[in-house]
Amino acid sequence: MAHLLLFHLIFTTCTLLTSAADSSSPYGMIWSSKSFGPDGPWQAVQVAVGLPIQSVALYPGGTFRSHLLTPRICTNATLSPSACFASSAGLYAIESSTTALQSGIGFPAAVDFTHGGLTIEGRRGIGSLDQIDLGEIVVPNVTIAVYDDIAVAYPDRSIIGLQVGTLGLGYRGTENQSFTLRGQPMINGSLIPGYLHAVNLISSNSFGLHIGSVRPKIKGSLYFGGYDQMRICGNVSTQNGPFAGIEPEEDGKKGLIDLLDIAIAVIDGPSPFGTNVSSITNLLASGNSSIGAALSLPLLPEAPYLNLSKSTCDAIAARLPVIYNPDLGPYTWNVADPSYLPLVSSPSVLSFIFRKDQSNTQNLTINIPFTLLNLTLEAPLVTSSTPYFPCNAQSAGRYSLGRAFLQAAFVGANWNANGNQAVWWLAQAPGPNIGSQSSVMSIQDEDVTVVPSNNDWAASWKGVWLPFVAGAAVVSTWTVPSNVSDTSSSESRNASRGLSTAAKAGIGAGIICVVGFMISLFAFLCVRRRRIHAKKDLAVTPGTTTPGEDEIVSSHKSYSTGSEEPSELQSHEVKHGYQVEMEGHRVQPIYEMAGDSYK
Ligand SMILES: *[C@@H]1O[C@H](CO)[C@@H](O)[C@H](O)[C@H]1NC(C)=O
Ligand SMILES: *[C@@H]1O[C@H](CO)[C@@H](O)[C@H](O)[C@H]1NC(C)=O
Ligand SMILES: *[C@@H]1O[C@H](CO)[C@@H](O)[C@H](O)[C@H]1NC(C)=O
Ligand SMILES: *[C@@H]1O[C@H](CO)[C@@H](O)[C@H](O)[C@H]1NC(C)=O
Ligand SMILES: *[C@@H]1O[C@H](CO)[C@@H](O)[C@H](O)[C@H]1NC(C)=O
Ligand SMILES: *[C@@H]1O[C@H](CO)[C@@H](O)[C@H](O)[C@H]1NC(C)=O
Ligand SMILES: *[C@@H]1O[C@H](CO)[C@@H](O)[C@H](O)[C@H]1NC(C)=O
Ligand SMILES: *[C@@H]1O[C@H](CO)[C@@H](O)[C@H](O)[C@H]1NC(C)=O
Repeated sequence: MAHLLLFHLIFTTCTLLTSAADSSSPYGMIWSSKSFGPDGPWQAVQVAVGLPIQSVALYPGGTFRSHLLTPRICTNATLSPSACFASSAGLYAIESSTTALQSGIGFPAAVDFTHGGLTIEGRRGIGSLDQIDLGEIVVPNVTIAVYDDIAVAYPDRSIIGLQVGTLGLGYRGTENQSFTLRGQPMINGSLIPGYLHAVNLISSNSFGLHIGSVRPKIKGSLYFGGYDQMRICGNVSTQNGPFAGIEPEEDGKKGLIDLLDIAIAVIDGPSPFGTNVSSITNLLASGNSSIGAALSLPLLPEAPYLNLSKSTCDAIAARLPVIYNPDLGPYTWNVADPSYLPLVSSPSVLSFIFRKDQSNTQNLTINIPFTLLNLTLEAPLVTSSTPYFPCNAQSAGRYSLGRAFLQAAFVGANWNANGNQAVWWLAQAPGPNIGSQSSVMSIQDEDVTVVPSNNDWAASWKGVWLPFVAGAAVVSTWTVPSNVSDTSSSESRNASRGLSTAAKAGIGAGIICVVGFMISLFAFLCVRRRRIHAKKDLAVTPGTTTPGEDEIVSSHKSYSTGSEEPSELQSHEVKHGYQVEMEGHRVQPIYEMAGDSYK
């Protein structure tokens, strides 16, 4: 009897201790086993909305509301002409949920929840509240917006229904989003990390995100209240202020970081860009004098592309076997070019050089292997799968870096740091070889730093990429960027053709060359068989072809749309998007932030 009692006491104490420790450890989100397009493949987190539960996969991204697509996207023949691609991620019918706020309150949400990352058309979302089951925790009354009619408009005026919604990542100093309707009680909707922090399930109102990639497979990682240290390689850049803004008023105004340059770099082995070309720099401002020392832009996990000016995309594209697709905006890889396959398999990267810590004395480089930039356009965007390079040359001045970039970057934020002004972080994320163990760290309430792992970034790609073999087809610079003045284009071409500083320094270091040659020879012998196999599978025809734009244009399926302005809701819109007259009442959302108020 005494034994039993003792056992019982110990057991209880242990349980209490464990649950106390668990109560503030970071909350890890579950990722869908599916991947999504038509401009991916992309990974998304899996949640269950409402009761009875409706399972949906969502891209983590944006502030405040989570954005959900309804089955009406599928019944609209303009948005879903053949099949309903949006149903793959899961749709949400608010009328079927008993936990949703349905009482006819429709505080509208912005049409474009990609913050300008895509050109979005359609009808404004209807704001509401419903519970979201994250897997182990149900967050009640999450602030959501539901969309019946929303599509991406492409430069050729074709439209394609959106396919995946978003899971809001929080906002600075904010637990809930409150709305007042004159004469009625205030309605409070939860923000997920703010709620988890308020009920002491996590130690801070924060998140840490690495979306990873599908090909090669790098599992996604999203924690609220912390981060997986394994997803951070090398230095971290810390920015004051929120990671993202509220759409649409703060689009392009909050969460910006200065991009100083874009470069192409070869990490290991001979260069696919020609003998001794180990790097090509000054691509950001190439051929465009109005891009100054830096381009300030946001990072958008809710959008796919690298949205840069046409001059920048063209300067990068001039070094790659790609063809511009004016109907869509990005470029397609020329799979018939003999340099395509060796390049997208090689240890070569597109480097983004940012201002580090908002200081003009330091910079941070994020490398994206070309392997991750060999993405795929799929139906309904094109009739058959087409490998594409995600630089969007038709972003209409709304510059941003989307999921294509974030496959290789860690981002996170502590929304309550610095007296609720928030900080956010950017760092290099690793490749596939990071081991199976994660190392999850908590972010404390006022923390302004995250700590990197000791992992080596280049080692995380070893064995995945195939070192370029000396003598294989090099990329020929056959596309001269349009709109690039003769002097600057020939200057930049000459610069890249000449010896890089690194190569010059290497001349005379004979021993290194001999060792390097032996390593290359060994790599060549190891890799040759695999390479030949891969080439056969893709039926690459040897010999240089001169691509023309017509080749890909024909595969793009388009249908015309009326140009009428969408939605009756917009006619009630007043100057500041969020204020809307409804049935004689003025619906006015209030964003509650300690020490800061947003109207
Ligand atoms: C279907 O979608 C189109 C394009 O967004 C829109 O103009 C139209 O109003 C929608 N139809 C219905 C019934 O919602
Ligand atoms: C909403 O947030 C405010 C401030 O963060 C807090 O005081 C209030 O209790 C919250 N209300 C609900 C219903 O969660
Ligand atoms: C959700 O919000 C509604 C409307 O404001 C409120 O009546 C209800 O109590 C809330 N539920 C929870 C669990 O907070
Ligand atoms: C919403 O929160 C405010 C305080 O932030 C509170 O006065 C109000 O009663 C809450 N409304 C509901 C429906 O919980
Ligand atoms: C040059 O840069 C400016 C400023 O970013 C931009 O507005 C313009 O479109 C660019 N020109 C081209 C040809 O891309
Ligand atoms: C980045 O920093 C390095 C070392 O401080 C410097 O050599 C390089 O010029 C900088 N690059 C840019 C684009 O500012
Ligand atoms: C490039 O992408 C295509 C699909 O678009 C895929 O079939 C191919 O395996 C990829 N190649 C490499 C080297 O990743
Ligand atoms: C490349 O560099 C090597 C020395 O590292 C030099 O001997 C060779 O001439 C260079 N080739 C070209 C084309 O510049």
